[in-house]
Amino acid sequence: MISNKALLALFGFALVFSTVVAEDAADGEVHEEEEIGGASKDAAVSFHFTYPVDANVNKEVFAGRPIKFLIGFKNGGEKEFTVKFAETSFRYHQDFNFHLQNFTAAQFNRKVGPKEEVTLDTSIPVFEQFSGRPLGLVVRLHYEDSDNQFFVHTAFNETITVADDDSNYNSETYFMYLVFIVIAVLLLMAGRSYLEKLTRKHGMAKRAPVVEQGTTKTGEVDFEWIPRDVLNNKKSPKPASPKPKKAQKAE
Ligand SMILES: *[C@@H]1O[C@H](CO)[C@@H](O)[C@H](O)[C@H]1NC(C)=O
Ligand SMILES: *[C@@H]1O[C@H](CO)[C@@H](O)[C@H](O)[C@H]1NC(C)=O
Repeated sequence: MISNKALLALFGFALVFSTVVAEDAADGEVHEEEEIGGASKDAAVSFHFTYPVDANVNKEVFAGRPIKFLIGFKNGGEKEFTVKFAETSFRYHQDFNFHLQNFTAAQFNRKVGPKEEVTLDTSIPVFEQFSGRPLGLVVRLHYEDSDNQFFVHTAFNETITVADDDSNYNSETYFMYLVFIVIAVLLLMAGRSYLEKLTRKHGMAKRAPVVEQGTTKTGEVDFEWIPRDVLNNKKSPKPASPKPKKAQKAE
């Protein structure tokens, strides 16, 4: 009796244990296949930047502007592949295991028959904050064959540099200059109308151009307002003044 119960318990335990192990193993398998999978020898993957185009050569992108790229997938085998998605991330350039930013996977679910080739279009944004920094860019393409076997192909795995967006910077500078010019013109116009008002008040509207020239040498302008007689009297010492007057009269 006791041995029977023990046997039953043991059997039950073994059953539960085995199913748990089996589940675990199945989980691990799928997980591993998805993560490590590797590339299929029948597939060829290529990578090409479409924006900025120069990034293909100098590996330089612009802060605040998207990176656009094409992933080429060529099926050289006999089975059909399904390209599932591209997983893109920015990594710390000195340690590619350190993720700075993970992007939402670009879903394709494109079937690629034997000897067929597809080009997949995708893009990611680049934050302004990355400006002036090197970044590790990793693009991995996930696909499966007709037997539901998963593969992962590293399409791009290199360090890129994020440059300042020059065009943005320039337009900002131009705008600043434009504002300065407008302010300068407004100030000039305000100054001119003020001076014109001043000259009209003093009944010297006809002499306005002379006054304007004088603004560069304010000292002269002030003297222009003062009648010449007063000016002469002020300039010449009083005792001396009678003599020239007498001389003028004599003439
Ligand atoms: C990005 O994803 C990886 C695994 O795919 C994870 O280890 C990492 O913590 C994630 N990083 C961020 C910043 O989301
Ligand atoms: C990507 O490049 C880094 C640094 O060159 C390297 O350590 C890493 O193993 C590469 N990863 C893949 C998936 O090729």
